[in-house]
Amino acid sequence: MPPIGIHDLSVATTHYALDLRELAAHTGVDVDKYRLGLGQETMSVPAIDEDIVTMAATAARPIIDRHGADRIRTVLVATESGVDQAKAAGLYLHPLIGLPATARVVELKQACYSGAAGLQFAAALCAREPDQAVLVIATDIARYDLDTPAEPTQGAAAAAILVTADPAIAELEPVSGIFSADVTDFWRPNYRSTAVVDGKLSITAYLAAAASAFTDYRRRGGRGFDDFAAVCYHQPFTQMAYKAHRHLLEGRGRAPATAALDSVLAATTHYNRVIGNSYTASLYLALASLLDHTPDLTDRPIALLSYGSGAVAEFFSATPAPGYHQHLRTQAHHDALAQRKPLTYDHYRTLHRTQTPTDGAHHTLPEDTNAPFRLAAITSHKRIYKTRQPNELRSRLSHFSQTRGVRPGCDGSGGGFGGSACGGMR
Ligand code: HMG
Repeated sequence: MPPIGIHDLSVATTHYALDLRELAAHTGVDVDKYRLGLGQETMSVPAIDEDIVTMAATAARPIIDRHGADRIRTVLVATESGVDQAKAAGLYLHPLIGLPATARVVELKQACYSGAAGLQFAAALCAREPDQAVLVIATDIARYDLDTPAEPTQGAAAAAILVTADPAIAELEPVSGIFSADVTDFWRPNYRSTAVVDGKLSITAYLAAAASAFTDYRRRGGRGFDDFAAVCYHQPFTQMAYKAHRHLLEGRGRAPATAALDSVLAATTHYNRVIGNSYTASLYLALASLLDHTPDLTDRPIALLSYGSGAVAEFFSATPAPGYHQHLRTQAHHDALAQRKPLTYDHYRTLHRTQTPTDGAHHTLPEDTNAPFRLAAITSHKRIYKTRQPNELRSRLSHFSQTRGVRPGCDGSGGGFGGSACGGMR
């Protein structure tokens, strides 16, 4: 059987970012709690006309542009912030990124874990039929209630991964360790737009699940920690990676120094530190961060630990392929972060409070994001997405770079849906 794994990896995030210094100035919390205690600096916040579909399209489009869509036989969208209870988000993507009619399209859910399930399903499909490619997209918006301890751990991003035989970036190794149990540490009932979380329980549940998944991985013949050049963890906040790695090592009788933790973790945290939690996408942002910020990992195995509250954990590994560097999208990832627009606290709160209209009337959304895809309207309960043409995109971005900063009328005074250019919905 040929090696199977990650042939391409592309990350996208939102139009806006909130600096946690801005949040701390209003909550009265010492900013070091956010920056040092949680390991977070800023968090991505979606514009009125962004959602998991627009982020997924923005992440996946460069993959289609590079490889074409003909070989794609399956599209798996992993998300816990789905836009519809019946229709898969991947079908909204279909016209936006030109997916083939001959690809099966489904949505996967299990909190932050389902991206890893998507990768394993994709690997199995490619093993059965090595000519096919599977597009796995992890896309999420992490939202908690305002004025709660979880508020600084919000964020949003998408990671699109093309899985094929003979991958250009990294081979997925066949051994994996799994742990599943019924735990109510974090959940979101259908009637809520924000998650409910027992913060302390969620941390102990994560640690216990990670340890059990690693034990299962070892039992199945997996590698020892010393074999890994780096370890990518699901990062609801980047200090969680440090907690988890320390926990796994201590469980094996080792007491790691901070420098030893940094050597396998620091490079995995650059993107999540400035994006915040992106649920299903977080682990793949850690992988992209590692690959984009490490000189050479060729043939050096990398461990990955996926955790999704509720709870499922999986420990698996990937080995970067010779020449993988030429296939990375480092500059595009840096540009996506640099192009985000800083939010004022008031504007952030306005965006957070804005709800999707449920009345079935026609609602045109204000043009807020500069992204290539946007949610343009909701009409008769249908979501209408629009693709920006390259010239329109160029002119928006050039206008944006000249006027970077807070636009007049975007200071949070805009209000709700259908109001000012800053009002709207989520
Ligand atoms: P909290 O209770 O407000 O924070 O909420 P804390 O008091 O525990 O402080 C956090 C850290 O900051 C502590 O460090 C403090 O000592 C430190 P630690 O003891 O953990 O090493 N600290 C400071 N450091 C420097 N200077 C200071 C200072 N003050 C305090 N002045 C909590 C923290 C994470 C619980 C909260 O943000 C939360 O509920 N977040 C959401 C839940 C979450 O992220 N859970 C993580 C594990 S579950 C998971 O990953 C799954 C998830 O992604 C969902 C899914 O699967 O879909 C969430």
